[in-house]
Amino acid sequence: RILIVDFGSQVTQLIARRVRESGVYCEIVPFNKADEMLDTFEPKAIILSGGPASVTVETGPRASLRVFELGVPVLGICYGEQTMCVELGGKVEGSDHQEFGRASIEIVEECALFEGLMKVGDTEPVWMSHGDRVVALPEGFKVVAISRGAPFAAIADETRRFYGVQFHPEVMHTPRGRDMLWNFTHKIAGCSGDWTMAAFRETEIAKVRAQVGKGRVICGLSGGVDSSVVAVLLHEAIGDQLQCVFVDTGMMRAGEAEQVVSLFRNHYNIPLVHRDASDLFLGKLEGVSDPEKKRKIIGATFIDVFEEEARNIGGADFLAQGTLYPDVIESVSFTGGPSVTIKSHHNVGGLPERMNMKLVEPLRELFKDEVRELGRELGLPPDFVGRHPFPGPGLAIRIPGEITREKLEILRKADTVYLEEIRSAGLYDEIWQAFAVLLPVRTVGVMGDGRTYDYVCALRAVTSTDGMTADYYPFSHEFLGQVSTRIINEVRGINRVVYDVTSKPPGTIEWE
Ligand code: XMP
Repeated sequence: RILIVDFGSQVTQLIARRVRESGVYCEIVPFNKADEMLDTFEPKAIILSGGPASVTVETGPRASLRVFELGVPVLGICYGEQTMCVELGGKVEGSDHQEFGRASIEIVEECALFEGLMKVGDTEPVWMSHGDRVVALPEGFKVVAISRGAPFAAIADETRRFYGVQFHPEVMHTPRGRDMLWNFTHKIAGCSGDWTMAAFRETEIAKVRAQVGKGRVICGLSGGVDSSVVAVLLHEAIGDQLQCVFVDTGMMRAGEAEQVVSLFRNHYNIPLVHRDASDLFLGKLEGVSDPEKKRKIIGATFIDVFEEEARNIGGADFLAQGTLYPDVIESVSFTGGPSVTIKSHHNVGGLPERMNMKLVEPLRELFKDEVRELGRELGLPPDFVGRHPFPGPGLAIRIPGEITREKLEILRKADTVYLEEIRSAGLYDEIWQAFAVLLPVRTVGVMGDGRTYDYVCALRAVTSTDGMTADYYPFSHEFLGQVSTRIINEVRGINRVVYDVTSKPPGTIEWE
């Protein structure tokens, strides 16, 4: 396995994903915690990430010198290359030749990183993003590739197996970056590439059994991929010691509750309590229009109901949660200041303390796409595994302002039509998340010979990789026209449809 030392690059997680895609397990650690990690982790190789700092600042972040003393291969990327150089006796300077974006390198020496991919004299497109550059190499290193802005675009000390690249092999815009990383992990570091989802399933099941013993585990299902995968995996590990609870908040999409109940009860034969708490939730939300208040009420009510259901089934020792690796990675912060809360995302935080339960989090080491793969491995139906994310507060945050049963009903119908059209056009898997929003605005229309005065429906569809940034999906005008016609014809209460073309930032994905 491989350790990635993070210097705060925006794309450190991509390095981890590329490494894992090549069948090699890896973890990310902030640079200032790497030392502790080296005692226990025993990496077969280390990758130093890029980062926003400048190594020309003496007090800037550095890799622990132990990284270079372990005798394992080290690959420095961008800032990682520069700090490696400085720490081993080379020199880095600020430069007038900043390189951002597409660039091209020329191979000038053979190097294990390029083996089987490129030979001396070849040029290769890469993605660069740096201001500083290496100007003198540490002893033992040679230049193996150059670019216009970086005479040390790639460097190597093949004896010690230390490599540095100024470009970013982890991003898509470096087409053969994936293969270079493969060379590093497999050929140079000698990893075997046997980290697969089948293997993960086995080891995780063993871990869960060891952690839980004879204890009882309770798992809240939301209808989403993460909690479903957790439930199926736990059921395989501990059978009837697992109890699942599905709380219907009344703000689910059309047919959602039925789908979850039938999948778990009928398909998997997993015991499931289905609690219809819609009256309770909607009652508490009456007259509330502030989005953060709505979220808080839903979160707190969810905890109340869940706690009650847990008591009904005799309590539990553990709470299972679908925490993913991106939630666990400690981010490297150079500003140190608290970040502003844009939206308080609802989860079941607070429950374990209140109910005195320990957590079982079998997905803590996985990225979202790996969870989907694990879901497929566990036999979850493909349309379940590929589902778009759905927020905990559900349709409540897709109806700006006050929520009523009438509005929920209208929104459910419009959302169903929209997603039907997306699916039948074969676009569902290209889109990260798509949904309808019901605006609390009525506008005038004409239908037949009569005047209408009905709600506006906004359609949203975005592409994204992690929901942190997103762009609107470029539907054809014909497609949008067709969805609009169907919604207005089929959904009473809506007489106007608009499409949201805002990216994130500055917008957010949801409207509240
Ligand atoms: P935003 O709207 O913040 O959404 O751009 C990013 C992703 O998070 C989801 N989201 C939520 N998920 N509770 C959740 O569980 C929430 O309160 C919440 N708000 C937004 C949103 O659907 C998108 O996938």
